[in-house]
Amino acid sequence: MSYIYFDQAASSFPKPEKVGQAVLEAITEYGANPGRGGHSLAVRANDVIFTARKKLAEMFGEKNPANVCFYMNATQALNQAIQGIQFEAGDHVISTSFEHNSVRRPLERVKDTKGISISYIQPDVDGKRLFELFENEINERTKAIIVSHGSNVTGTILPIEKIGQIAKAHNLLFIVDASQTAGVLPIDMKEMNIDVLAFPGHKGLMGPQGTGVLIVGDHVDLVPLIYGGTGSHSEDVGQPQKRPERYESGTLNTPGIAGLLAGIEEINRIGLRKIYEHEAELTSYCLNRLNEIEGIYILGPDGNTNRLAVISFTIEGIDIHEAAMILDQHYQIGVRSGLHCSPLAHSLIGTNEIGAIRVSFGLYNTIEEVERFIEAVKEIKSFF
Ligand SMILES: Cc1ncc(COP(=O)(O)O)c(C=O)c1O
Repeated sequence: MSYIYFDQAASSFPKPEKVGQAVLEAITEYGANPGRGGHSLAVRANDVIFTARKKLAEMFGEKNPANVCFYMNATQALNQAIQGIQFEAGDHVISTSFEHNSVRRPLERVKDTKGISISYIQPDVDGKRLFELFENEINERTKAIIVSHGSNVTGTILPIEKIGQIAKAHNLLFIVDASQTAGVLPIDMKEMNIDVLAFPGHKGLMGPQGTGVLIVGDHVDLVPLIYGGTGSHSEDVGQPQKRPERYESGTLNTPGIAGLLAGIEEINRIGLRKIYEHEAELTSYCLNRLNEIEGIYILGPDGNTNRLAVISFTIEGIDIHEAAMILDQHYQIGVRSGLHCSPLAHSLIGTNEIGAIRVSFGLYNTIEEVERFIEAVKEIKSFF
């Protein structure tokens, strides 16, 4: 029986074949240090990195590829974004109760070290109410709005275009965590008034693990988080002003970025709309079938539209970790149980004590796999 992987929200698997080939090629054919030397192999590595920056800039509505900075994952990119803001004591930030710990913890750290205050609003409301919630929280010390585009617990999609309009109207820095949406939903930084955008390369964009991206708008001056060698401006004592070097010290993950470039090319070839539609079909089917089973409680939006391919649920009378273990060991189905690094979201829903089971679908999952999962859940339910 082939293994079914339903943990795409954590990291996509499998990757397109071309991603693996690109990684291998980088390691075996030109694995030099990009931007560190003028020899042919370093130039070739640098060309691949530059092409990846260019494609990412195009994909996310950013004019200047030099504003695209590479990190190990979304967490590092978000830390650079949040800890890099030039806060003063008393400044205020608005975020949401949907945030992953990769947003919440850096924010709480800045609260402790710099004396800012944070409002976590509950974004799971209609557009008009959401507008009011933001408007009510904004005060003269509010400096930034930091939100995730999509919840990794409930699959809820936030109207970032609308939130961007609010940020623009109040001259606030708008930072978006697109960890669950990059490579699935269209994002245009310019049209959506996004100042800083962070996302992983290893989820929807189909790149290898060890890749994350931060796009920093021209007008945003973040304080670098990491200082060190940049391969240029070596005579300067301080970190260069020039981007991307300002935010990228140390050797880059060339094989990973080469794989990410292949992932982006594959996403562009297939098209975001097709990817979203495929994932929506699986989600809709799974939601309908889960709803037929008594004792299954689905968290978040129960409608099939305007949500990501992420479904979290509990099973009455069954410990979620035990159920996840049975799914893995007996049925060969990989799901995720627990709090999914988002305790605020679980507190909001009332599942912070027990957690939930999360299934998440991707490009290569099929209806047949969802059906096998449903049959497994039914069988587990009948045993308890
Ligand atoms: C919404 C959200 N933000 C941030 C992250 C962190 O991503 P990474 O593991 O690439 O650091 C995740 C990962 O699951 C996520 O779902």
